[in-house]
Amino acid sequence: MPQPGVTLASVVDTTRSLKPEPCTLVIFGGSGDLARRKLVPAVYNLLLDKVLPSNFAVLGLGRKTFSDEDFREICRKGIEEHSRRELDRGAWESFERHLFFQSGAIDEPSTFEQIRARLEKIEADLGVPDNRIFYLAIPPDSFAQACEGLKAAGLVRPPNGRTFSRVIVEKPIGHDLESAKQINAVIGNVFAESQIFRIDHYLGKETVQNLMVIRFANSIFEPIWNHKYIDHVQITVSEAEGVGTRAAYYEGSGALRDMVQNHILQLLCLVAMEPPYSLEPDVVRNARIDVLRCLKPIAGQDVERFMVRGQYTHGKVKSEDVPGYRRETGVAPDSTTETYVALKLFLENWRWSGVPFYLRTGKAMTKRASEVAVQFKDIPQILFNANPAAPQAPNVLALRIQPEEGLSLRIISKVPGSKAQTNPVEMNFTYGEAFGGQSPEAYERLLLDVMAGDASLFMRRDAVEASWAWITPILEGWRESGVRWLPEYRAGSWGPVEADRLIETDGRMWRKL
Ligand code: BG6
Repeated sequence: MPQPGVTLASVVDTTRSLKPEPCTLVIFGGSGDLARRKLVPAVYNLLLDKVLPSNFAVLGLGRKTFSDEDFREICRKGIEEHSRRELDRGAWESFERHLFFQSGAIDEPSTFEQIRARLEKIEADLGVPDNRIFYLAIPPDSFAQACEGLKAAGLVRPPNGRTFSRVIVEKPIGHDLESAKQINAVIGNVFAESQIFRIDHYLGKETVQNLMVIRFANSIFEPIWNHKYIDHVQITVSEAEGVGTRAAYYEGSGALRDMVQNHILQLLCLVAMEPPYSLEPDVVRNARIDVLRCLKPIAGQDVERFMVRGQYTHGKVKSEDVPGYRRETGVAPDSTTETYVALKLFLENWRWSGVPFYLRTGKAMTKRASEVAVQFKDIPQILFNANPAAPQAPNVLALRIQPEEGLSLRIISKVPGSKAQTNPVEMNFTYGEAFGGQSPEAYERLLLDVMAGDASLFMRRDAVEASWAWITPILEGWRESGVRWLPEYRAGSWGPVEADRLIETDGRMWRKL
């Protein structure tokens, strides 16, 4: 039930309304995990929400020799297991008629001819115009073959034509600056920048989009959102799951590349950006990228001073046994891949001068909890804060990204009674209570945006490269250090003690989530 004051009449639509166009979503890696767990359930939920154009199709591509029927079965199971809403028989029957599969190897030119013929037939049968979205849910070393194959088969239309060709690219976009540039160049040889949608699924999360709304749709935060009033900012993305079955990818990645280079730096951009002058995609993207451009470099000896890496050892997460990272299947017994990283950074601009940002993320931690917390400066040591032995707790604005999406503001209040006692209390807002129902999944919003051609929530080439430009010297510092062991933390804990020291030597503490 909406809370009083959040009635439908007071819900204002300030966004440019999205007009998704009829199209076919062509998924490279159509039988893979991402398609089954995220993409197909997302399209299905868009159908349930009645926001999907009526003439649409999904064409899965892959090496496996699946029939359309096999593919539909995989999709049905994917929806049953991963959709935020249950499979509805009637809706499924109309949905499955739009699902198709084409098998073929990406390194065979004939595959792309088959894709073209298949697309033309599907479009003619279902009355879908030849608007096509190519989703590259495949390893980056196959991007070049996919893009060039599409181009050679005449499947890439010029931008701004009667119908569109768009490409969605999944991370990882590179493993350092050089490789990111190469991948961008490969895709850029075939598609214009306006046709390229680089996904960072954190930008599609409701709570992440709300960061901009909280900051720029309220009058009370922006005047104090700067170094004069803010002591520091903490961004935490903790995950309860270990590496699971993803060691083959994760071993070559680690927490810095997997989470910080993309998701966490994007959160930082939203917290720290200047107000954009409009909601036009490129205006918002320019404001975000400006933050990346003023990140103070961490290189050479600073890498050890500002960064802490960690690796989980055997422990229990939610009473389940988790083996140490080095004992996980597919992990080298002497691996130095970090499953945890904590760091302190600064932004070299007027607004944030001298304000530390503490970031941390890890796998196999106590629980899944992500938040951005802005801690305000202490009040003067007089009146209610006159006792230096018992300082007042500072005000903190915490934006909970997941789970229990919402926001809380810690303020100091008088304890009822005759004594002049004070106590911190939390003003709390949760999405569930305020708006009821479930929020759409990130992939739902993002796919809809691509169908509508709105790139606001996607990464532009210069942003990807700017974030790699900042991350790469850290990776080089780590490589040069040649360490054979990383600081350890027990699975099910909050990370290594070294990370506590990083913040505690500054007289601050990680928040308890
Ligand atoms: C992915 C990372 O990008 O994000 C995963 O590759 C991580 O390692 C995931 O688990 C976290 O996403 P979410 O939406 O579950 O917070």
